[in-house]
Amino acid sequence: MTDTSIFPVPEAFASDAWVDAASYQRLYDQSISDPEAFWAEQGKRIDWIRPYTQVKDCSFSGDVHIRWFHDGTLNVSANCIDRHLATRADQTAILWEGDSPAEHRHISYAELHANVCRLANVLKKHGVQKGDRVTIYMPMIPETAFAMLACARIGAIHSVVFGGFSPDSLKDRIQDCDSRIVLTADEGLRGGRKVPLKANVDQALKSCPDVGTVIVVRRTGGQVAWEDGRDFWYHEEVSAVSPDCPPEEIGAEDPLFILYTSGSTGKPKGVLHTSGGYLVYASMTHQYVFDYHDGDIYWCTADVGWVTGHSYIVYGPLANGATTLMFEGIPNYPDSSRFWQVVDKHKVNIFYTAPTAIRALMREGEGPVKRTSRNSLRLLGSVGEPINPEAWLWYHTVVGEGRCPIVDTWWQTETGGILISPLPGAIPTKPGSATLPFFGVRPVVVDNEGHHLEGATEGNLCIADSWPGQMRTVFGDHERFVQTYFSTFPGKYFTGDGCRRDDDGYYWITGRVDDVINVSGHRMGTAEIESALVAHPKVAEAAVVGYPHDLKGQGIYAYVTLVDGEEPTEPLRKELVQWVRKEIGPIASPDLIQFAPGLPKTRSGKIMRRILRKIAANEHEALGDTSTLADPTVVTELVENRQNRV
Ligand code: WT7
Repeated sequence: MTDTSIFPVPEAFASDAWVDAASYQRLYDQSISDPEAFWAEQGKRIDWIRPYTQVKDCSFSGDVHIRWFHDGTLNVSANCIDRHLATRADQTAILWEGDSPAEHRHISYAELHANVCRLANVLKKHGVQKGDRVTIYMPMIPETAFAMLACARIGAIHSVVFGGFSPDSLKDRIQDCDSRIVLTADEGLRGGRKVPLKANVDQALKSCPDVGTVIVVRRTGGQVAWEDGRDFWYHEEVSAVSPDCPPEEIGAEDPLFILYTSGSTGKPKGVLHTSGGYLVYASMTHQYVFDYHDGDIYWCTADVGWVTGHSYIVYGPLANGATTLMFEGIPNYPDSSRFWQVVDKHKVNIFYTAPTAIRALMREGEGPVKRTSRNSLRLLGSVGEPINPEAWLWYHTVVGEGRCPIVDTWWQTETGGILISPLPGAIPTKPGSATLPFFGVRPVVVDNEGHHLEGATEGNLCIADSWPGQMRTVFGDHERFVQTYFSTFPGKYFTGDGCRRDDDGYYWITGRVDDVINVSGHRMGTAEIESALVAHPKVAEAAVVGYPHDLKGQGIYAYVTLVDGEEPTEPLRKELVQWVRKEIGPIASPDLIQFAPGLPKTRSGKIMRRILRKIAANEHEALGDTSTLADPTVVTELVENRQNRV
């Protein structure tokens, strides 16, 4: 695939779109030349209780701080619900499609209001106050969105933990933010299989003595253990309180949520997002990137356990009064037509998914797609990892019948919303490129010494100035925030991604340049997997790297040195995979484990990961300079026993 393949904006699409080519250029230029004026105007898209007079107060150096609209007050849940009641009380807000095709639910804005108010009252009854942290460990059911919005209504800070994480990972996240209450379900349901959520919570809480309340949604009716005085059924609690709860007045810079994400070192960090700027940015990007119009049925297939679910299932769409589809299941259950069956069943217009899902479905051939009509589709989106041009083209021609533009949206948990993406009525697309920055976003490409690179180039992707959706800090550790994002290239936000910029100024994200790997669109720190491995009694040392994987984008490759006297056996290999699943969660399972008598280290003892990445990628012919190794012979052994020989 070369840069010369360009897909123009379909004319019919451009004429009805919110933003066309000329207005993109004009608005983008304005947003960069006078950000204060631009955002002062855009901030009005949401309802404020007390209007802001201050717009932007941000610094990426010295005393690093990020504040937007900071003297304004608002309530995020009122913006997502109450303000729509006058005009769309009976419109579907959340369209829920169950794991089984036989189950779906329509929740209108009026019903959303009552459900969120009731749950907010339940939280209050259990002593939750403004600023308290509430952990949400729930499946993809409407009650999860109710829980997030109920927190927002009373100013509590939610921390959603993905249901695929282990009890141990859940425990770490509860402890880190000192949650005293956990919301969960008896069991989740995915692809016909049950996920033991309540049992996982019970296990996690053995090490969380401060959690005094667990609210449990009955989803499957499966058997669960019960601790009287601590555990409460959701349905009993909400039926005992009022369906009305006035929204609290919340400062623009008061926290809305914490979301844990992996970095290159240490434990996952609590990315903190606040209320005003986040909502302005999530709603604005949702409207323009997805060219969302009143009446559209919009479906983002992410899990609410990730930021994509926060910004583009819940907050962005609901702030815009949209109908947002929430899907409990998986792409290939009951069969690999499921996505497209759901599209037809609910007449979905805008569909947003991840490259890993597209690649998996592509493998099944065109049949399962062609069995469905997909007539309602107008726009397709991609997120989470670079999309390879082959998958892009298949998505475009087979799924979209060549009719729907594709928005390849680049962003991060930290950015709160989309930063680089086509606006579908304005920007011609190139398969594999996220194209151009959104309004107010100033990407810069720098070399390893931090020098700005101009024109067509390749290097490290940084952002030169703040945008309203940016994270504000690492919960409880501002120093780590400054260190992680603003110290590599002082004065700039460093994304951790590498990128190329072509002659048209289009950005091509090439992937992480740090020790973070992206497995099926899920972000993992190699350091986390390494510490899980070395916690096993038979493991002396471990080094984990990513390697190219056809379906997952990257696979997890672990080099493991056993303690003296332990034998490298097949059963032990399997045991280690299970061990990591249990320690972190199934998404962290190593794909390949190589038993390594020694790891390539410099004389000062630093592991040379560059060499390990090459061997894992089966590129051992081009290892580069190995002369600085303390013992160059370990490399020969590693190459001989490499596990990836495709
Ligand atoms: C990392 C962020 C953004 C929500 C989901 C992931 C990679 C994300 C793209 C894209 C190429 C992408 C980057 C980024 N990434 N979207 N369209 N093209 N790479 O959020 O878990 O915080 O991961 O995902 O490497 O840094 P996340």
